[in-house]
Amino acid sequence: MQESPELLSAIYRHFREYFDMAERKRRWSITEDIPWDNCNKSLPPALADVVETFVAVELYLPDYLSKLIPQVRKNRGRAWMLANWGYEECKHSMALEDWLLKSGQRSEEQITDMHARVFDHEWNLPYDNAMGMLAYTTLQELATRIHYTRLRDEVKRAGGCPALEKALTLIATDEAAHADFFRRLFEIYLRHDRDAAVEQLREVINTFKMPAVHMLADSMKRMHDVQDLKIFTEEMFVKQVYIPVVTKLGVDRRELRRKKFRERVVMQAGTDLKP
Ligand SMILES: [Fe+2]
Ligand SMILES: [Fe+2]
Repeated sequence: MQESPELLSAIYRHFREYFDMAERKRRWSITEDIPWDNCNKSLPPALADVVETFVAVELYLPDYLSKLIPQVRKNRGRAWMLANWGYEECKHSMALEDWLLKSGQRSEEQITDMHARVFDHEWNLPYDNAMGMLAYTTLQELATRIHYTRLRDEVKRAGGCPALEKALTLIATDEAAHADFFRRLFEIYLRHDRDAAVEQLREVINTFKMPAVHMLADSMKRMHDVQDLKIFTEEMFVKQVYIPVVTKLGVDRRELRRKKFRERVVMQAGTDLKP
């Protein structure tokens, strides 16, 4: 899509509003704002396994940034957002990793091992264009927020841990801000070229997967841990991610199901050519 100067400056303004608000209201410190002396050292190991999985997903940050930035390097608002987003995301894995160590759920050696194993695989862009990645990120950030708040609920149910609950609250607030930023950014593109934006949204909704979990060592076990604790389910994706996002975007769900005329014609032609 050709990005006009008006579109680029609308996106940059959107980023500045987000950034200024984050500086005023949302910055937090791993060392100052989490009550590390209040760490429950006897939470069920299954919860620590899920925390470790989330750390590992956040550890792919170098892949996320190095592949996303080239798609948007001429678009200052989006590129600067990725720089700011990367800063916020790196705190998430550090805070959770600190909890794994301070709670005694993992040793330094186990953490070092995890770091070594994560980079056996490389994360690649699930969609090859900047609009597809924006549609993906819009859904993924909201899904991530739900993962963290659901995990916090389970921690409370298991007896609580003030340090972990506070870390999860701070992280979930960041994820909610990310989801809101990307959804509003998507709205700007919808106003600019609705057909192109809806086409990418349709593609992403039909193929959505959370990032990186399937790439981790013992990925099946990790996915089962998340499913067993009902941290995130298919039903939550539909009710708490898909429906609220498309409703707020003002996209009709029929619009997302409907094949575009051009695609229908191509498909029909394909069918007709079959013997
Ligand atoms: Fe995060
Ligand atoms: Fe995020």
